[in-house]
Amino acid sequence: MKPLVMTVYGTRPEAIKVAPVIRALEDSSVLRSITVVTGQHREMLDEVNDIFGIVPDHDLDIMKHGQTLAQILGRVLEGLDPILEAVRPDAVMVQGDTTTSTAAALAAFYRQIPVVHLEAGLRSHDISSPFPEEANRKITTQISALHLAPTSVSRANLMREGVAAETIAVTGNTVIDALLGTVDKHLPFTDPALEELAGSGRPVLLVTTHRRENWGEAMHGVGRAIARIARAEPELTVVLPIHRNPVVREAVLPHLAGLANVLVTEPLAYGQFTRMLSVATVVLTDSGGVQEEAPSLGKPVLVMRENTERPEAVDAGTVMLIGTDEQRIVDEVTRLLHDADHYAAMANAVNPYGDGRASERTVAAIAHHLGLGERIDDFGVIAT
Ligand code: UD1
Ligand code: UDP
Repeated sequence: MKPLVMTVYGTRPEAIKVAPVIRALEDSSVLRSITVVTGQHREMLDEVNDIFGIVPDHDLDIMKHGQTLAQILGRVLEGLDPILEAVRPDAVMVQGDTTTSTAAALAAFYRQIPVVHLEAGLRSHDISSPFPEEANRKITTQISALHLAPTSVSRANLMREGVAAETIAVTGNTVIDALLGTVDKHLPFTDPALEELAGSGRPVLLVTTHRRENWGEAMHGVGRAIARIARAEPELTVVLPIHRNPVVREAVLPHLAGLANVLVTEPLAYGQFTRMLSVATVVLTDSGGVQEEAPSLGKPVLVMRENTERPEAVDAGTVMLIGTDEQRIVDEVTRLLHDADHYAAMANAVNPYGDGRASERTVAAIAHHLGLGERIDDFGVIAT
């Protein structure tokens, strides 16, 4: 019987990043695949599964509005444990640093099932930012058997923490597999205003925000900065697909009321979001995944955070960390819109995060770990 790999995931970014791996597992001649979603996100998760044609085998359906981190952790542990007991997979794969992924890793570890950590070794080196993700990813490292680092920078972080070299493979980030398989399709926008904008050639500022450490005054400042930019730049259209979290909406949206050149939308389906990324002039975000995708499309990215666990594109010059100070956000967006040399210096298409073969390397590394077949050569672009 072929070994069974259980993939557990629950939020939008995890779903995007595991989708190509689940496809590759389903195509594998040596491994079998089973999927469990926690439902930590509901609509945003289901939308990604629909786009990639994935029907999960189990759904814990844990999302509650206003859920606390401890409630997410508790409900995932409680929901997953009986499934692990009944199914007895040979390995459990988790992705990244959400509370779903750490809880699932813990549930598997308690059942003595090997944990495979996809997107392992990212570190901001600041336990309070991103919160709680930096802690989540370090905890998952401690209890994982196989560490799939996206880049050699993340591999070096793991090595510094004493993780054994033979348990690490450098795969590239599977988000690039997802992006490359989606963006070229030029999928139509559901919203006619976005379709008109995409065909118009007018400048676009694409904004996403959701980070917990920015909740409160920092996120109000983001809202005020967007409003000031929109008022000062009448030719510009700001596109803001707003996260479903009510905390985010309550902080940002009141500042944008009545501004005709700010298009606030529901979260865009992945194909539409990647098309908007490819249309955008400038990207302003606090997202991890967007920091990885936009550089490969040659888009300048201003990151509203004090630090990043993704230094590769900062080093390449495509991503700039600008924090959440309102005036700094206004200044940096304005500079990119009006200083052509500065824009050209940042608008380089670079691919430090992957070459589109991360899922293939991931499946080969899992099979090898389970005693089947050979690993593929590590992905390597950035020297450590
Ligand atoms: C979570 C992850 C974060 C990841 C982010 C991606 C944790 C601790 N945080 O943060 O690492 O970067 O997802 O977006 O794991 N909601 C809906 N429908 C949805 C999704 C969310 O209504 O489809 C609302 C709910 O009210 C929910 C709230 O958003 O309670 C917050 O969701 P939650 O997963 O707790 O936190 P995020 O901030 O989304
Ligand atoms: N994304 C999307 N629709 C949107 C906004 C983002 O499909 O309206 C995608 C984006 O392309 C990226 C992922 O969602 O792959 C990032 O998710 P998010 O910012 O929520 O989480 P993070 O990456 O910060 O953990």
